Amino acid sequence: LNNGLALTPPMGWLTWQRFRCQTDCARYPDDCISERLIQVMADRMAADGYRDVGYEYITIDDCWPALNRDSNGRLQPDPKRFSSGMKNLSDYVHSKGLKMGIYEDFGIKTCAGYPGSEFYMQLDAQTFADWGIDLLKFDGCNSNPDDAKFGYPAMAFYLNKTGRPILYFNEWPLDDKLHGRKSNYAAVQQYSNAWRNFDDVNDDWDSVKSIINYYANNDQNFLSFAGPGAWNDPDMLVIGNYGLSPDQERTQMAMWSIFAAPLIMSVDLRTIRPSSKALLQNKRLIAVNQDPMGIAGRVVYKDQNIQVWTRPILPKGSVAVVLVNLGSGGSPAQVTLPLNTIGLTYPMGYRFTETFDGGNLGQYKPADTFTCFVNPTGVFMFTANLL
Ligand code: GLA
Repeated sequence: LNNGLALTPPMGWLTWQRFRCQTDCARYPDDCISERLIQVMADRMAADGYRDVGYEYITIDDCWPALNRDSNGRLQPDPKRFSSGMKNLSDYVHSKGLKMGIYEDFGIKTCAGYPGSEFYMQLDAQTFADWGIDLLKFDGCNSNPDDAKFGYPAMAFYLNKTGRPILYFNEWPLDDKLHGRKSNYAAVQQYSNAWRNFDDVNDDWDSVKSIINYYANNDQNFLSFAGPGAWNDPDMLVIGNYGLSPDQERTQMAMWSIFAAPLIMSVDLRTIRPSSKALLQNKRLIAVNQDPMGIAGRVVYKDQNIQVWTRPILPKGSVAVVLVNLGSGGSPAQVTLPLNTIGLTYPMGYRFTETFDGGNLGQYKPADTFTCFVNPTGVFMFTANLL
């Protein structure tokens, strides 16, 4: 979507994966979807270094609204959980140097059963703008399946009409997939800043692996539609929660970087492990993810368990490379790559730098081979810069 936003993949934090639809603030005051949760996470993002490495948008997913619109038909937040109102909350978020996002749905109800935007789209877009909202995540539950091609572009139109820059995330190609339709990715790219095209991520390896395989298969060549202002969204980073091992956390961060995916955390920033925090804040991985050319990586080699992905990055001629081992058994896999078979063909050769730690891996020519070990469910990642 050409609205001047998301020129690199958006970065931020979202409630859904970690906090879901917990609305019982009497019993779970620290974990319920409320202004308090958003304020606390905004504090942590600003104070603990996340904002300073680029995480910017803090977004409230489903389950924020009151069950009824007000007497003028306007959406209103749950009066107990958001007692100070959304404008005050966005002022708070902005005072921390962050931006605020919210969730809605173009059907009658959201996926979790809260009021949807059907028949109210223009009013809702204006309400979000009045509240100082900077990002909308727009879903398609509880709608007529044939309406997706009208509903998603309509919201893009109404957001634009408010005059407020509002980054527009949606689930258009995922809706298509769920209804067995082919996606019109050219239209999706034209009307969206980022779009989900696969199932909801879960906090486990099977889920992360299934997303990697979906991106490797690159159905309808969707990776080619990524670029400044328009990104494929493989869903939230689950790093720092319960389900991934340290290697699997590195795999998610590396793959989301090579995909040019939005980096949207969903984790309790109050209690996150130091190793997960350091990974989410790794500047070399973030630099690959945020490369200004915005070209999504592709698979250049694939066997039963091993995939090799490359992504062109700046300075010109440089390439980010990820070797991922999707196998979970046994010991680290030894992989030997003839470099000219993965597109590293510059005759003068390259300097390789390991991405997680920044270690120097030496110099290589196209006719050389590179050998490394890739842990089960893990990755090896490096950048190749022209000599
Ligand atoms: C859908 C979306 C999720 C989340 C929930 C909220 O399942 O794909 O990301 O927004 O709805 O109900």
